[in-house]
Amino acid sequence: MILNLIILFLGSHAASASNTLFPGQPLSGSETLVSENGIFELGFFSPSGTKHYLGIRYKNITSSNPVNFWLGNRIPITNFLNATLYIDAGELYIEELGSVLWTSNSMKNASDTAVAVILNTGNFVVRDQLNSSMVVWQSFDHPADALLPGAWLGLDMVIGANILLTLYKPPYNCTLMIDQSRKRGFIMFIDGHDYLGTFPDWMVTYEENGSLVRLNDPEIPNEIEFMKLHLGQVSLLKWINNATSSGWQPVWSYPSSCKVSAFHCGVHKHRNMQMH
Ligand SMILES: *[C@@H]1O[C@H](CO)[C@@H](O)[C@H](O)[C@H]1NC(C)=O
Ligand SMILES: *[C@@H]1O[C@H](CO)[C@@H](O)[C@H](O)[C@H]1NC(C)=O
Ligand SMILES: *[C@@H]1O[C@H](CO)[C@@H](O)[C@H](O)[C@H]1NC(C)=O
Ligand SMILES: *[C@@H]1O[C@H](CO)[C@@H](O)[C@H](O)[C@H]1NC(C)=O
Ligand SMILES: *[C@@H]1O[C@H](CO)[C@@H](O)[C@H](O)[C@H]1NC(C)=O
Ligand SMILES: *[C@@H]1O[C@H](CO)[C@@H](O)[C@H](O)[C@H]1NC(C)=O
Ligand SMILES: *[C@@H]1O[C@H](CO)[C@@H](O)[C@H](O)[C@H]1NC(C)=O
Repeated sequence: MILNLIILFLGSHAASASNTLFPGQPLSGSETLVSENGIFELGFFSPSGTKHYLGIRYKNITSSNPVNFWLGNRIPITNFLNATLYIDAGELYIEELGSVLWTSNSMKNASDTAVAVILNTGNFVVRDQLNSSMVVWQSFDHPADALLPGAWLGLDMVIGANILLTLYKPPYNCTLMIDQSRKRGFIMFIDGHDYLGTFPDWMVTYEENGSLVRLNDPEIPNEIEFMKLHLGQVSLLKWINNATSSGWQPVWSYPSSCKVSAFHCGVHKHRNMQMH
């Protein structure tokens, strides 16, 4: 009995403490990885209660306002209890009932012992087990519709791709990409229109000669912020939790007024309202 309790305790402790996916130790549909600082959790999550998707979320602000940073281009999982995430020779795989639904397609070769780690920043990286600077794939190179502080958009010479935010809500697609011709400029495409916006100076940092734009950390340490693309609007959202209010509040949005984007202020206004 006591032995069982000890084993149970050790088992649950090990499960909750792990931030690393090792080869030969798949993550089952109901398990999660947690970053060392306890802030981010990776697993198969379900925003609507039906399909599950592999994603990363803030571990302790899930119940009231879940926010998911989707991985694997939002591959729908029908039966998450029969799904696994595993790593083999530096490639990540999502498998459901024995069928591979997604692989990470690393650009570089990794060693057979490469591991995947959910970092304290929320970046999920595939890297060499011994040399942590040998990264072959990272989730920050593949954002869906949301960007964490420290993550980037623009031309990534290392992977040879233009990193952008995308949102697909049938029948509309919305994308946000860096406009290399304007300082801090970006282009948001939706419904056949493009809107030219500019990030404020305090929000982003230019790297790699201006081809990559990195989202800055919040000015006040421990504040929680991220950038989110909605249909026709992009916002920097901040988590507020005090005596008078609780939830995600925009501290910056583009467009900020209806004069700029008829789309955002038109028929789809209610969808944007839902995000807050
Ligand atoms: C979440 O965790 C962080 C870090 O431990 C803490 O500062 C914050 O207050 C927590 N938020 C909530 C909503 O519990
Ligand atoms: C799916 O997962 C459930 C719960 O773990 C298990 O009982 C069932 O046997 C699995 N089904 C298949 C086809 O593997
Ligand atoms: C990866 O390894 C394969 C087989 O060893 C080799 O053919 C290929 O050139 C390597 N690719 C890179 C990018 O190093
Ligand atoms: C770790 O990998 C980096 C990048 O490939 C390399 O520059 C460095 O020399 C490696 N360190 C060790 C100790 O092998
Ligand atoms: C939106 O993107 C999806 C996936 O890339 C594509 O299948 C679809 O045709 C696009 N729809 C529109 C309206 O562009
Ligand atoms: C930035 O541009 C300069 C001048 O064109 C070039 O020498 C340098 O290698 C570039 N640096 C990067 C990181 O691309
Ligand atoms: C709670 O946060 C909101 C938004 O930042 C702020 O306007 C309000 O004054 C805060 N209330 C308290 C009691 O600190």
